[in-house]
Parts: sequence; structure tokens; C-alpha cells
Amino acid sequence: MTDVNAVTTHYGGQHLSEQILNALTEEGIDIESLDWKQLAAIDQFHTRGLPATREQAALAAPEAGTKVIDIGCGAGGPARCLVAEFGCSVTGIDLTPEYIEIAEMLTARCGLSDGAKFHAADALDLPFDDGAFDLGWSQNVSMNIADKTAFYAEIYRTLRPGGKFVSSDVVTGLGGEAEWPLPWAREPSISFVVTPEDMRVAMKHAGFHIAEWRDTTGEAIAVFQNPNQQARRGRLGVGLIAGPDFGERSANLAKGLADSAFASVLVLAEKR
Ligand SMILES: C[S@@+](CC[C@H](N)C(=O)[O-])C[C@H]1O[C@@H](n2cnc3c(N)ncnc32)[C@H](O)[C@@H]1O
Repeated sequence: MTDVNAVTTHYGGQHLSEQILNALTEEGIDIESLDWKQLAAIDQFHTRGLPATREQAALAAPEAGTKVIDIGCGAGGPARCLVAEFGCSVTGIDLTPEYIEIAEMLTARCGLSDGAKFHAADALDLPFDDGAFDLGWSQNVSMNIADKTAFYAEIYRTLRPGGKFVSSDVVTGLGGEAEWPLPWAREPSISFVVTPEDMRVAMKHAGFHIAEWRDTTGEAIAVFQNPNQQARRGRLGVGLIAGPDFGERSANLAKGLADSAFASVLVLAEKR
């Protein structure tokens, strides 16, 4: 079982909202009326940032009004993209209360609160009815969850028949030793990275039909090797929500991908 308190301690921090607003102000950005795209350097807490979110959305192909549940929504960056660019209605849940507070605050300042709501909740116990959503969405969350079948089964439960689940994740590669700390864990006790095959089996046990399975490792390595592609401006960076050691954690992931300790995948599954 995952120690959920250890997970929220890993991600959370004090005064994060204040630090984000201060950093935005220092960059000359009007924090009373934000454009969600201005936040992309901070709030896309996953491998390859906003381009990966757009790629994931293109695979899921949501329509205007699609009801999305974003499981492990973090600070809400992907949710704001789905609302602003695709017209989705998004419900974001996350274990880390500080991230939910940031997600609500930034979404309000972007004028997108009608399209995105956020709740503190555990992915293994979603506070929603069976069949409530059209599309399940997850980015770089499963690595913190020990019981993968329970994770996918709970998402499956909340989707309507015909609903889709789209997810990007880090999985194990063909070799190489991981170095710590990593973006999702500073030490092994809250890290549950599995082989692509084990992930596939867990999704199938939960009931999903796997419609597409993409290995995105090459794209991830390319982005890590080209720091200019990682949108960053002045003080603005994922470290504002992930913590001041994010550079080291991110570099260890880059090394792990290059050494084949890790791989990354983008998966589209269906509830038939
Ligand atoms: C690497 S961050 C990704 C955040 C967001 N998906 C994004 O791409 O910007 C992982 C997130 O998963 C959340 N998380 C981990 N375990 C969870 C669980 N059991 N239930 C809900 N959220 C969880 C963490 O709190 C954290 O916000």
C-alpha cells in the first residue's frame, strides 16, 4: 500500500501560492488577469510539459462539453488547457491539498472556474458516481500508486460505457539503475514504477481495452537534451510547485531515460 501522507509530504510545501504569485509579478505578469498559457512553465508537472498535454489531448480527441476527470491533476495546468483549448468540462482531483488550493486560485485568476472544478481526493477512492465522466485523464501519477489494478478499476468505474482513459506515465526501461531523488519520489518508499507489460495487464484486469500504446521515450530524451524546448522564463519553472530540488530530480529522470532505467508511455484505453 502507498503511504499517502508520505506522498503529500513529498509534493506539498508551505506558501506555494504566494511564491507563485510573487514570481509571476517579478516577471511583469498581471496576476489579477492571467492567461493560462503564461503559466505553462510552472503548472505542467510532467515529462515534456505543455506539448505533451496537447499530444495527449489530440489522442483522446475530446469534444466541447466532454466531461473529463483529471486524476492527480496537480496545480491544474492540464485541466486549464482542456477547458481553454478544447471546451471540456474538467473535474480535477489530487491527493495534495496545497495543489488543489493552487489549482483553484490560478484557475480563478485565468477566468476559467466555470469549466474546471478541483477536489482533494485519493485516486483509489473517487468521490463520484459510477459512469459520471466521458474521459479519464492522468499524467505522471501512477508512479506513486502501488495498487495499479485498483487505480485503473476506480477510473473505469467513474467512466460511462464507451468512455475513454488517456494516460502518460513513466515505466521501467530495459536496463540501467535509477538515481535518486526523482520527480515523483525522493526515495524508493513511494515509488511504484512498473514494467510496460505489468501496466498493460493492470489496465486489462480493471476492464479496459487498450486502443493505443505509444512509447514516448525518444521524445522525452530529446526534450531533456534541449533545455531551450523546456519553456522556462526567469524565475518561472516547475520548481515553484515541485520544490527547489526539482532541477536535480528532473536531471535524474533525464539520465534514467537515457540509460534505459526508465521509459515513458502514452496510452489510450476504452471502456467498452
Ligand atoms: C508529477 S505530479 C503530476 C501533476 C499533474 N498531473 C500534471 O501533469 O501537471 C503527480 C501528482 O499526482 C498526485 N497523486 C499521487 N498519488 C495520488 C493519489 N493516490 N490520488 C490522487 N493524486 C495523487 C500528486 O499529489 C501530484 O500532484
